[in-house]
Amino acid sequence: MIRILFVCLGNICRSPTAQGVFEHLVSERGLAKAITCASAGIIGTHTGELPDPRTRQHAKLRGYDLRSQARQFHAPEDFSTFDLVLGMDDANLRDLRALDPREEYRSKIRKFTDFCVALRTSEVPDPYYGGPEGFELVLDIVEDASLGLLQHLQSQR
Ligand code: 4NP
Repeated sequence: MIRILFVCLGNICRSPTAQGVFEHLVSERGLAKAITCASAGIIGTHTGELPDPRTRQHAKLRGYDLRSQARQFHAPEDFSTFDLVLGMDDANLRDLRALDPREEYRSKIRKFTDFCVALRTSEVPDPYYGGPEGFELVLDIVEDASLGLLQHLQSQR
């Protein structure tokens, strides 16, 4: 089983979107027994909450039903449990690396956008304080990076 953890700041917008979109893709390709994923936030402020209503609404329009409950990332357990820990932006990567003081898990920490295939972007921008277009952009980037991530995992098997 390959285990993927998506991480953003609050775990109510970007990483739950990544979890829902990637899970949908994995199950559509019949790979649910081989690949599993989850999501977590750098901060614990929203622990127990469903994804932001705007995130859920925009995802629903593309056929994704997001129902994960927010939780905070915990080192070192999450680093040892998951094979890849994928941050959404540069700040997430800095925060994750700071939680790995001995650099033991450095190779597991990657940026999700490294796996983009069609889009050229270096971050999934935080949509929390912006308008609806930000939530659509998150979905566009996440769909593209999910395809690339799945290709990457399949090429490694
Ligand atoms: P996310 O968006 O990191 O994509 O879940 C945010 C959600 C909440 C906050 C920041 C970003 N917040 O500061 O509460």
